[in-house]
Amino acid sequence: MEKKITRVITYGTFDLFHEGHYRLLRRAKALGDYLVVGVTTETYDKARGKLCVVDSLMTRIENVKKTGFADEIIVEETQGQKFNDVKKYDIDIFTVGSDWTGCFDYLKDYCEVVYLERTKNISSTMLREQKQHIQRIGIIGTGRIAGRFIEEAKLVSGVSVQGAYNPRAESAEKFADKWKIDAYSDMENFFSAVDVVYIASPHETHYGYIKAALGQGKHVICEKPMVLQKAQAEELFGYAKERGLVLLEGIKTAYCPGFTKLLGIACSGIIGSIRNVEACFTKLENPESRELTDRTYGGSFTELGSYCMLPVLKLFGKGYERLQFDTIRGENGLDLFTKVSLRYPSGVATATCGLGVKSESRLLVAGTKGYIVAEAPWWKTTYFEVHYEDSGRVDKYSEGFLGDGLRYEISDFLSMLSGGSDNGFKLTRGESAALAGIMEEFLKAEGRQVCD
Ligand code: CTP
Repeated sequence: MEKKITRVITYGTFDLFHEGHYRLLRRAKALGDYLVVGVTTETYDKARGKLCVVDSLMTRIENVKKTGFADEIIVEETQGQKFNDVKKYDIDIFTVGSDWTGCFDYLKDYCEVVYLERTKNISSTMLREQKQHIQRIGIIGTGRIAGRFIEEAKLVSGVSVQGAYNPRAESAEKFADKWKIDAYSDMENFFSAVDVVYIASPHETHYGYIKAALGQGKHVICEKPMVLQKAQAEELFGYAKERGLVLLEGIKTAYCPGFTKLLGIACSGIIGSIRNVEACFTKLENPESRELTDRTYGGSFTELGSYCMLPVLKLFGKGYERLQFDTIRGENGLDLFTKVSLRYPSGVATATCGLGVKSESRLLVAGTKGYIVAEAPWWKTTYFEVHYEDSGRVDKYSEGFLGDGLRYEISDFLSMLSGGSDNGFKLTRGESAALAGIMEEFLKAEGRQVCD
């Protein structure tokens, strides 16, 4: 009778392929006759919180192939795949390094599980940190979002939050004490201590701070809305480009894996040609809040408009033929509810925001063959559906979204720094400038005087 060959399987990211990986694959192969190696996709890595993987999936597969130990290479895309792979590839032995001891014991009912001793003093994380210069981040503004940014930045390798700046020394110290970072109320000292500046101060201060930071040779991430005038956005992007610096507008939705997936599906042709985009985001706000009392910069559109305009600009672009605002104002004249209607050569769109009116906050993308719907909070997309004329057919998509989601934005920003790109495809300079232009049109239509 023919002797059955022993089939072994192992998995990994294999980023910046190193000796630990090589030794693991050699021993895995030696456990049997035929070795299957599963290499993780970028999306799966992100979903399980492994951000900042440097090598592309193709490079990582190539590196595994070069060892000559793998008889077959497969791609690991989802959680739960290992269980199915063991059956599908008729596996006798499942093996991984000892850092995973115990984690895969659930497979013991189906095959042998072997934890191989991990090679000491080497890991992809270590190499990534050596390769990457640690970017020291300084924060301007010490509000709630700044605290959230610090928590999220802790989860991205390659960055460290150094300190926070607030012209009021007392506020800077209070915030810095809480987060165990340095406090600065002197701008020069602040800039000399950091490589990257994250701006989370009131809207009207963004332009001045961005210009000052770029002037000092610092890369910048600025909270949305970055600026409220198109010419300012263009000037700042031009200035950054001239100086070889990255300037990124922080609309976290743009960097969220689920939202990126939704855009990909929308543009894949599966719903035909896109004819209508409706994005709505409402959040009832305290009438005493800054958002509802700042008579120049407050109101629902300046607060939430960036989120709602994002899918419209991503899917239809910047070339709208008509732009119209309809607002419901409160007693102080600020918009409690705003509906923006856009007419494009190939379709129509609405972006609806409310701080004083509650509505169903969802994102709908309608095409000639079907539509996509993502319910609230679609701006942190984890799930969406595709519907067709045949109501019995519904395609469901889900994607991970970890913590507050700022980690995706920080991680993309870092990739731009290390990859030498100054124009992110998830939110381009042109899209950011178009957003500033729409904000400007809105404030003009509302008769609000914006300072330069
Ligand atoms: N591995 C190993 N010895 C090392 C590093 C990794 O035996 N020094 C093993 C892991 O246990 C795993 C496989 O190699 O079975 C792929 O590991 P991977 O997670 O891709 O590499 P790491 O270096 O552990 O990556 P990271 O630092 O990103 O966790």
